[in-house]
Amino acid sequence: MIIEPRMRGFICTTSHPKGCEQNVKNQIDYINSKGIIEGAKKVLVIGASTGFGLASRITSAFGCNAATIGVFFEKEPSEGKTASPGWYNSAAFEDEAHKVGLYAKSINGDAFSKEIKKQTLELIKADLGQVDLVIYSLASPVRMNPETGILHRSTLKPIGDVFTNKTVDFHSGKVSEISIQPSSGDDIENTVAVMGGEDWMMWIEALKAENLLATGATTVAYSYIGPSLTEAVYRKGTIGRAKDHLEATAFAITDSLKAIDGKAYVSVNKALVTQASSAIPVIPLYISLLYKIMKEEGIHEGCIEQIQRLYQERLYTGNKVPVDEKGRIRVDDLEMRPDVQAKIAQLWAEAVTENLAELGDLEGYRKDFYNLFGFDVDGVDYKIEADEMVNIDSIA
Ligand code: NAI
Ligand code: NA
Repeated sequence: MIIEPRMRGFICTTSHPKGCEQNVKNQIDYINSKGIIEGAKKVLVIGASTGFGLASRITSAFGCNAATIGVFFEKEPSEGKTASPGWYNSAAFEDEAHKVGLYAKSINGDAFSKEIKKQTLELIKADLGQVDLVIYSLASPVRMNPETGILHRSTLKPIGDVFTNKTVDFHSGKVSEISIQPSSGDDIENTVAVMGGEDWMMWIEALKAENLLATGATTVAYSYIGPSLTEAVYRKGTIGRAKDHLEATAFAITDSLKAIDGKAYVSVNKALVTQASSAIPVIPLYISLLYKIMKEEGIHEGCIEQIQRLYQERLYTGNKVPVDEKGRIRVDDLEMRPDVQAKIAQLWAEAVTENLAELGDLEGYRKDFYNLFGFDVDGVDYKIEADEMVNIDSIA
């Protein structure tokens, strides 16, 4: 069928298999152009189908020649209804991996559940024996705690005071002022329960208990800090508390992996357009200014450039992994450069509806947003009928 983007609020409800495939191929080409990374050999990626997790899977496979198992939660296609983009991404990834003889299998289901953990452990046991790298890259609005049965919902709210600032509707380009009410009730605890480190720890404990982690195994989860402009709603808001918890969990995991000389890291990554970040007020305006400046400076990166750098220049250099004063890996270094942030602060003050297309990279923002769903991808002919019924080799 002919597949077009269909928007509902901030979300696109359709996705294009050919566009998703092209996105994956472009990322693979980028990794191939950068050469071999002596690193991981058997990798589990939790949250492997989009964003940073997909980039991690691609870098592991095509950069390190690693076998990969990917866990994700995606909607499969049905006749006349497209799958979610992560489904098509994973189908394309497996195809490309299998073409060059790389092991790649996927598990589609709720990574927070005991069942999906059990299924994953059994697959590792049967096919890989052990893994030497575990990437934890989940982004979810809800989590059912498998021990208590409680369904937690995360929020994106400031803590303490109402936060008022500028924001942009990136579809219309309209800049307006927005006020976000502070958290109340169990908002903080719930957000920590969803996006904090508890589930990461559960995964590692489960893998360890079954002796599925190789000696010297590494595990990495992703975090964000960002500038003072977005601090009230991000790093000092409810989601920031969850990231604090995630970062603290890295130390707890490293302690629990002493016997096998394992290490857990949090990598602080750059702000990028994803489904999740588009839904956070204020952030899209920040990202559109950030993109503009980083592109002008020739230092713009997407997920794949970020993760390639994480592997080649941080995790697998052959030397000690460089970390900041809080033990975190930083690949947000270019975003946080003082000259970049100073320019954003200046543009932020000036930005209004009439000049934002000029001051910021609204067009780049929109393109990246549509690209997430496989639309507006260069080289794809959208006038040609596309088959929505795409299988993932290892699942179908
Ligand atoms: P994303 O939405 O692109 O990817 C999320 C992944 O988690 C997908 O593979 C999805 O299928 C999977 N997933 C969600 N719920 C699941 C569940 N219940 N069971 C199994 N899989 C599930 O998100 P993105 O942006 O790549 O985020 C990954 C991590 O990177 C998050 O911790 C996020 O906070 C962090 N990060 C994001 C930044 C950004 O600007 N987007 C910046 C820095 C860090
Ligand atoms: Na991801």
